[in-house]
Amino acid sequence: MEALDRRSFLITTGAVAAAAASAPSSVAAQAPAAVFLSTWEWGVAANRRAAEVVAGGGSLLDAIEKGINVVEDDPNVTSVGYGGLPNAQGEVELDAGIMDGATHRAGSVCNLHKIKNPISVARLVMEKTRHTTLAGDGALQFAIAMGFTPMQLLTPKSLEAWLKWRSSPNRESFWIDREHHDTIGMVGVDGRGQVVAGCSTSGLAWKIPGRVADSPLVGCGYYADAAAGAASATGNGDVMSNYCTSMRIVTRMGQGLHPQEACDEVMGVMAKTAPNVRSDMYCVIAIDPRGEIGAASMNVAQPLQYALWKNGQGALHTAAPFLH
Ligand code: GLY
Repeated sequence: MEALDRRSFLITTGAVAAAAASAPSSVAAQAPAAVFLSTWEWGVAANRRAAEVVAGGGSLLDAIEKGINVVEDDPNVTSVGYGGLPNAQGEVELDAGIMDGATHRAGSVCNLHKIKNPISVARLVMEKTRHTTLAGDGALQFAIAMGFTPMQLLTPKSLEAWLKWRSSPNRESFWIDREHHDTIGMVGVDGRGQVVAGCSTSGLAWKIPGRVADSPLVGCGYYADAAAGAASATGNGDVMSNYCTSMRIVTRMGQGLHPQEACDEVMGVMAKTAPNVRSDMYCVIAIDPRGEIGAASMNVAQPLQYALWKNGQGALHTAAPFLH
């Protein structure tokens, strides 16, 4: 934690205090060894749910899946699952992936429509098939065969936002520009050698239909290796895919870097080589098997908030920007 403590500070807001205070005391007592690290403020609720799952006897995979489900189910999170902002044609198109660091198996879905919990479908791809990734209609048909019920993923709020975007004469499209977006990236360890990473997103609002970025791609949006740790990415996934950010970070942790050093290093590589890196959002989180963590965001204008659950307590932090 030393490197992290130097580079981060606890946001002492009422929301954070409430998040920690509302954690069931039984969770704190029963699952002190598990550590969960998630992106953005919604990671606080995801971590809390994950800790409950582990305290109730669930596996780390169960914990990461159920934690991410909390965010996918929340209609107020407009970049993940139900209520996620749609593509340019008004269709919500979801991506997710999960990886088990012990078996080195991963599962993912891309461009999944009508199913609000893509992380759960991704886990079933991993556990019930010999494939790693299913996309589009094939992913939907697989989800239906696994018992998921198709539903409308647009909420009144996301429909209104899309209609407003579509009727704007000066609307931005992805042929030329990008809309702000976020992801739930989540990594965890159970203190007994297990390491898991997961990621779920609706991707960029108003994206060109069919776009796939980092979130469902193994090694890009998420990666886990029980010998080295786990990492996840959030932000502009079109650019971050080109750096295989999560695998880079885990590989460097395996070579001895602290998770914070590994996160900073990938930011440094991007800052050196990617055009316009200062003007968009690029963020990563990482954890090693001992529960040491790292978190980094590229720039001051787009700071990463990350939620940490450790020693039975949850809190929200802000990563120090790489570029000042
Ligand atoms: N990182 C999520 C996305 O770009 O879709």
